[in-house]
Amino acid sequence: MRGAMTGDSNRTVAIVVAAGRGERAGDGPPKQYRAIAGKAVAAYAVEAFARHPAIDAVLLVIGTGQDDLARTALATASIAPTLVTGGATRQASVRAGLDHVAATGGAGRVLIHDAARPFLPAAVIDRVLAGLDRAPGVIPVLPVVDTLARGDGLLGDPVDRDGLQRVQTPQGFDFQTILSAHVQQQGRGDATDDAQILKACGHDVILVEGDVALEKLTHPGDFTRAERALAASRLPRTGMGYDVHRLVEGEELWLGGVRIDHAFGLSGHSDADVALHALVDAILGALADGDIGSHFPPSDPQWRGAASCRFVEYARDRVAARGGVITHVDLTLICEAPRIGPHRQAMRARIAELLDIPLSRVSIKATTTERLGFAGRREGIAAQAVATILLPEPL
Ligand code: CTP
Ligand code: MG
Repeated sequence: MRGAMTGDSNRTVAIVVAAGRGERAGDGPPKQYRAIAGKAVAAYAVEAFARHPAIDAVLLVIGTGQDDLARTALATASIAPTLVTGGATRQASVRAGLDHVAATGGAGRVLIHDAARPFLPAAVIDRVLAGLDRAPGVIPVLPVVDTLARGDGLLGDPVDRDGLQRVQTPQGFDFQTILSAHVQQQGRGDATDDAQILKACGHDVILVEGDVALEKLTHPGDFTRAERALAASRLPRTGMGYDVHRLVEGEELWLGGVRIDHAFGLSGHSDADVALHALVDAILGALADGDIGSHFPPSDPQWRGAASCRFVEYARDRVAARGGVITHVDLTLICEAPRIGPHRQAMRARIAELLDIPLSRVSIKATTTERLGFAGRREGIAAQAVATILLPEPL
């Protein structure tokens, strides 16, 4: 989002309408709050607007009594949009959003978008905003490619598809013009989009190219398809981690989330579980999201003696928050003693549990260094980890 406000008429506000009941989408919570790849449908568009440099504010119009649903759905989103309560029809919900903008400083331009169209490419926002330099209304459209026909059980007359377009959102408007149009058209039928309302008041609306990614989720099958499309858009990413801790007398030995009886324990940050620290760094590495020290500074007293399991859960949640999945982790422990073999299964089980992935996706290996170096002299234990994750590319 753009930083400082530069006066009302320069402000561009995104209104995401999410107050519908999703009746055609079947059972379950309203479609805008269902998860696709671990993220709520509504969170996708909200984040896409928030990420765009030309957008100054994002409103989410929600249904009466949906505050908790909306807050939970957006809990892990990168921004918290302003929540506004919508109405019984889409038109009423948009109007509630427009009224809120008017009451909170106004705007030069608004983009009105269906929460049920989660995958919003930045290029479409660019095209719509660019169009607003030429007309007070701009809509993204795609040509109709299928053959069209009338009929209800029996094939009727063909329909000429020449010049027919499928209308998508976000639709962009000059703020004052669309607000006046909504006021003027109130009570005159229920328009399914805002461009019709603008046009009914005699204003020009121009067409720009939409995007197939913007299809609206309407029926149950659309969710399966969206999940599959997103899975296909996920790219594998690999991160590595490395850590060393000193072996000392009088400390407990924690390795791979398991306490091991041993004459020496590891000293250092938290419980000094060198294997889990390497694992956390591998996961953060795959996310390109800093390292364990930047998230849990050793200088911060709250992490003294902390269980490293918490760091692993934190890294796991960072992956989930970005719609990613951890596909595999592989660790190597480097030490003369203790022997790792007897504890391998317990460590794998504990790590699988912490990451919430099957045991088959967790590998633990161990090696000595032929008594060479610090590990060979039993002065410390080193651990290496590699994490492979699948992460959706931002749409
Ligand atoms: N919408 C809204 N307020 C309403 C009705 C719809 O904000 N009273 C929003 C929906 O949440 C959706 C968008 O308008 O993001 C497009 O509407 P549609 O796809 O028809 O969604 P629903 O009305 O929720 O679904 P259905 O018609 O199947 O019940
Ligand atoms: Mg509807």
